[in-house]
Amino acid sequence: MEPAKGLDWDAVRDSIEMDPEWTYLNTGTSGLVPKTVHARVMELRIQLHHNPTDAVWRSPWDDFWMSRTRLAAHLGTSPDRLIFFTNISHAINTFCLSVPLPEGAEILMTNHEYGSMQHAWQRAAKRHGWKIRVIELPVQELDPSAYVDAIDSSIGQDTKLLYLSHVLYTTGHVLPMEDVINKARMRGVLVFVDGAHVPGMLPLNLSKLRPHFYAANLHKWFLAPVGAAFLFVESGMEDHLEPWQVSWAYHDDRSNPHIRNEFGSTPWIRQFEMEGTRDLTPWRVIAMCCDFQEAIPEEARQVRFHELSQAVRESLQGMGGMQCVTPEALELRGGLTSFLIPDGLDGHWLRRQLWERHRIEINVVNQTEGREYFRVSTHIYNSLEEVERLAAAVKAELKLP
Ligand SMILES: Cc1ncc(COP(=O)(O)O)c(C=O)c1O
Repeated sequence: MEPAKGLDWDAVRDSIEMDPEWTYLNTGTSGLVPKTVHARVMELRIQLHHNPTDAVWRSPWDDFWMSRTRLAAHLGTSPDRLIFFTNISHAINTFCLSVPLPEGAEILMTNHEYGSMQHAWQRAAKRHGWKIRVIELPVQELDPSAYVDAIDSSIGQDTKLLYLSHVLYTTGHVLPMEDVINKARMRGVLVFVDGAHVPGMLPLNLSKLRPHFYAANLHKWFLAPVGAAFLFVESGMEDHLEPWQVSWAYHDDRSNPHIRNEFGSTPWIRQFEMEGTRDLTPWRVIAMCCDFQEAIPEEARQVRFHELSQAVRESLQGMGGMQCVTPEALELRGGLTSFLIPDGLDGHWLRRQLWERHRIEINVVNQTEGREYFRVSTHIYNSLEEVERLAAAVKAELKLP
């Protein structure tokens, strides 16, 4: 693979707010923010503290509309399709609690769905009398079409909804989502995608992908401050969703539900976004995050993602018996590189040592079935030196020659 030439990656790194003493390889949990965004957030938070009335109830609306239009253009959709949420957990819970599936309906998902979101589905299924069927996706690398077939062939007569992660939080697999969605739509099954890791990691065009619902975080790879996520709802699917927290928008006139209103949203969207008094700062800077993402050509970004994840794979493979489970094929991987932790190695101990003794942040993630992965996130702002630092620290902690 050609290294990502022609771009000054040191300058990119320099434009991110970070502690130079720390090695941050955990964008998969939350990303660092660009310095421009950080400065604006600080300014907005001072305004919030000096006059919370203005910051919560008067001044955010133009910023909201700017954020919504810029993000919609970035994602290949229109602003009236995007509801902002504080995090994807909130977006998914809202959907789970309101989607009008009949009693006995089956929800199909894989064994790689994020643990707490499985809990949200379990509660909703118990409440409504739905069945959840979990299919096992192989962790080894297969041809992309094998993942499509594995999911498509599992759709049964009672399956009403397919709930899937676009990027697996465990192994870092990028699933061939467009083909999966096409097949499910042909069978008349609704598709809800958990795209928590996608914006900022992979190109995403919602008009081309055609999910019914797509939720994602912006505070991971899109580098927004903590507290920014969205839910895309396909036109015509509005009646599948209700706000779980009712507030001042309850009696708004919704006779023209999808036109811009004075609150930087639409009458339909505002019933979800108006939740009472809270800090709205993260949503106000989303347009600035779009600036950062769009300043670097997508092709160069992808080469950089692949270059860094390849370095992680090569430098850690086999250490302490850890085996890389992230596919080699470029179309099946992005910024997450994971290693299956063998029995006898305490991944959580290793993670603690890396932070406490080396100030290196990675993650150890557990799959509900008990498998444990050592997961390294590399964004374009990370460096090959950081990957080398990580490998040296793991080697030292495991007392390897
Ligand atoms: C695939 C996936 N879904 C959902 C979530 C939940 O994200 P949040 O805590 O921001 O709501 C995560 C968090 O890491 C995730 O990886």
